[in-house]
Amino acid sequence: MLDYDKEAGRYDASRGGEARAAAATESLLALIPGTATRLLDIACGTGIVTRRLATARPGLRVTGADLTPAMVRMATARLPGAIVRADSRRLPFRTACADVVTTVWLLHLLDDPADRDAVVAECARVLRPGGLYVTTVDKAAAHDVGSDVDAVLAPRPRRPAADAAEQVVAHAARHGLQPSGRTSFRGTGQGRSPRSTIADLRRGWFTQLPPGEPRTEEFAARLARLPDQDRPRVDPVFTLCAFRKPG
Ligand SMILES: C[S@@+](CC[C@H](N)C(=O)[O-])C[C@H]1O[C@@H](n2cnc3c(N)ncnc32)[C@H](O)[C@@H]1O
Repeated sequence: MLDYDKEAGRYDASRGGEARAAAATESLLALIPGTATRLLDIACGTGIVTRRLATARPGLRVTGADLTPAMVRMATARLPGAIVRADSRRLPFRTACADVVTTVWLLHLLDDPADRDAVVAECARVLRPGGLYVTTVDKAAAHDVGSDVDAVLAPRPRRPAADAAEQVVAHAARHGLQPSGRTSFRGTGQGRSPRSTIADLRRGWFTQLPPGEPRTEEFAARLARLPDQDRPRVDPVFTLCAFRKPG
């Protein structure tokens, strides 16, 4: 996993900024019933999405939680009094206290299935009967948009997707959550250019290609030969899955 304490300062700008947050929020809200009054945004990061959720509907009280101190500080600056530092595997919230729980871009980080299962278990626990858990799935696959950059990257070593939809459905089922819809949002501003991808390689974004290794530099050299070094290719589209706790 990236060191999110180091990543915090550049996180928003490198993840599509407010445009991405707006797209994600709009899609989340499309899944969330207007009657919901309590939402927990788990692994809220800098709070860029959390703040939009909090201001979108006057009747919806939103709390964000994240494990990384620098992320918690940034989110707290955005939403004072509404952010807690917490591990999503052991949430400090009462059982059945929330109408909605969200995890945007968390499960793909958790390589150990036991960690993913613990997160989904906790999200299910804090949901009230009838409540909704909404999460991103298949994140890494979304970044492959079929561009020339992706063609260069195709032979790279990859770890299995920790947030593969069928696995998330299985975790959810184990904790009594039933599939209840799916939507997507555009990762506006996240299309890869050759140059930005070289920079990502050299800062460890591709976990199986450590910075400085000869193999990593071979991929960088191939990317450097592509045309239009600074032209972002097509934006990725990310999938959100919703699960309901039976009422
Ligand atoms: C890719 S960021 C997503 C942030 C935010 N949801 C967004 O969409 O901008 C992943 C976040 O997960 C947090 N995180 C990683 N493991 C965690 C855990 N076990 N419990 C809580 N947060 C965690 C990181 O600190 C980071 O802020």
